[in-house]
Amino acid sequence: MIDQIFGIPLYKSNIDPNSYDKESILNTILSNYEKSNDRNNWDNESYIKSKIHHSLCDEQNQNFEKPDFSSLRSVYESEIKKCLKMMNYHNLVFKFEIVNYTVMTKDSQMSNHIHTDCDFTTVHYLRFDNESLDSTLFHNSNDYAKYLISTLSPSLSKVSDNKSIQNSWMYQTFKIPTQENDFLISDSYTDFRELKSGFSKI
Ligand SMILES: [Fe+2]
Repeated sequence: MIDQIFGIPLYKSNIDPNSYDKESILNTILSNYEKSNDRNNWDNESYIKSKIHHSLCDEQNQNFEKPDFSSLRSVYESEIKKCLKMMNYHNLVFKFEIVNYTVMTKDSQMSNHIHTDCDFTTVHYLRFDNESLDSTLFHNSNDYAKYLISTLSPSLSKVSDNKSIQNSWMYQTFKIPTQENDFLISDSYTDFRELKSGFSKI
C-alpha cells in the first residue's frame, strides 16, 4: 500500500453537463465576456495584474448580468458530500457558496493566490479546450520542494514519472490534467495559478 503523510487533498470528478442548466449559465457568461474581455476588479491595482474576465469584486457592475447558478447547487452539494465521505469526515454538515466565475483565453493569466474564509476551494471547468489551454498550476507549499530536485535529491526526478500525481510531492509546481466538466476540490491554502486555463468557476 502507498499512502501519503501530510498530503494535500485533491478530489477530482467530471460533472455530467446534462445534470444542470449548463447552456444558460454559459450563455450569460459568454455574453458578459463579449461585452468586455478585460474585467478585473480583483487584482487590477497589483504590480502584476491578471489578464482575465473575472466577476469577483465587480458583482454590482450593472453592465454585466449575473449568471443563475441555482441549478448547480445540488450538483455541487452531492460532490462535496462524496469528497467529505472519502476524507472520513464524521460530520457532513457544511456551507458553500458559488462566489465567482472567470473567463480565460490562451492569452490570459491569473496571478497566484490562495483563498481565505473557507476550508476548501473548488474549481469547475465549464468549458475547457485542452488543445490550446493549460491546466491549473498548483504550487507545492512544502518547504523542501524548493531544494529537493535541484539540490537534495537530484537523482529522484531521473527515475520517477514526473506526470504522476503520486510524485507531485517532489516538485515545486504540478499541473493537474484537465478536461472540460472537471470539478476539483482542494484545500484553500495551497497557492495555485490559472495558466491560460480557459473557463473556470470557483
Ligand atoms: Fe481563486
